[in-house]
Amino acid sequence: MFEPDQLPHILPEYYTRARDMMSLQNRAYFLAGAGDEATLLANETAFSCARIIPRPLRETGGGSTQISLLGQSHATPFMVAPFAYHRLLDPLGETATARGAQAQSIKTVVSAQSSVDLAQIRSAAASCDWFQLYWMGSRERTLELAEIALAAGYTVLVLTIDAPVQGVRDREIEAGFQLPPDVRAVNLSAFPATRFTPLIEGQSFVFDHIAHVLPNWRDVDWLMQSVAAPVLLKGILHPDDAARAASVGAAGVIVSNHGGRVLDRAPATLEMLLEVIKRVGSEYPVLMDGGIRRGVDIFIALALGAKAVLIGRPVVCGLCVAGELGVSHVLRLLRDELEIAMLLSGCASINDIHADMVHLKL
Ligand SMILES: Cc1cc2nc3c(=O)[nH]c(=O)nc-3n(C[C@H](O)[C@H](O)[C@H](O)COP(=O)(O)O)c2cc1C
Repeated sequence: MFEPDQLPHILPEYYTRARDMMSLQNRAYFLAGAGDEATLLANETAFSCARIIPRPLRETGGGSTQISLLGQSHATPFMVAPFAYHRLLDPLGETATARGAQAQSIKTVVSAQSSVDLAQIRSAAASCDWFQLYWMGSRERTLELAEIALAAGYTVLVLTIDAPVQGVRDREIEAGFQLPPDVRAVNLSAFPATRFTPLIEGQSFVFDHIAHVLPNWRDVDWLMQSVAAPVLLKGILHPDDAARAASVGAAGVIVSNHGGRVLDRAPATLEMLLEVIKRVGSEYPVLMDGGIRRGVDIFIALALGAKAVLIGRPVVCGLCVAGELGVSHVLRLLRDELEIAMLLSGCASINDIHADMVHLKL
């Protein structure tokens, strides 16, 4: 369908081309952030303000980007972040994304709000074995979704805790964003709706609607004891919450503000990454996402202690521009850029990337 020379050659071209190709509604849904987009911007700015101090002349022959994480070997220290409704961008939806990522030996974290059946995605891409859960309004229903995912062959679960209610999505409201009738969160259709969009649906106060379905730490603790798989908590920003996640048995945390889509004015994830690692130590698996647009950004996050990172909007743009091939190419460009950054800074392996190689000018 695509000749190689029709694809963008550089990452920023994916971002501008996707922006131009998307409808107003899709642009508001996929690319915008909550409120004034201060957090969306802060995520990216934190990376662009960091500086890498190279260490030339070190041995870098035979280098590799491979890591080991939760007992799994990953070819790269990055994965595709869970994001919803890929079929808004490509008819094959999450299947296209998972296959495109797999072509680069990269894992996709499948969203609870995916628009393709979770078992179908899993069988389309054998390496795709991470599944993201939302709290489904009760312990039993959340466990039920987890068990459906495990039965389909997913082995690692990610519970997203930072979006119990839709953020203030001005751009979506302005654009009149609505899902078309043929795109749905198909894996959740058997569950009662739990997520609520106050500014659109709200006939009463937000608190009146939602309080009874919100999870708390006791619920998370219960889930950790009840699920027979490692569960990471996604959406941690406060160092004490990372410590609490570790104490209730989370397999790791993902420092994230949902790509600036929920609480506007939340801090940049790169800033909080440092604080979180200071609190939980460097052995505990701390991942992060938000604002990563280039291979050097991955390098910076790893230098500051992330064990791996998740990539959101760049994959959104790859899928929009060229479907499966676009996802694959975006991930390949990120990997090439990361390898170049490693070679230029004297790192043969991910373990060689240290905090003293990055100067943060926040
Ligand atoms: C359009 C969109 C939909 C998303 N949907 C989900 C979701 O269903 N579950 C989830 O845990 N995170 C979701 N996220 C957040 C991403 O997993 C990730 O945290 C974020 O995109 C990272 O920031 P970045 O886009 O700057 O890379 C979504 C993000 C976007 C952009």
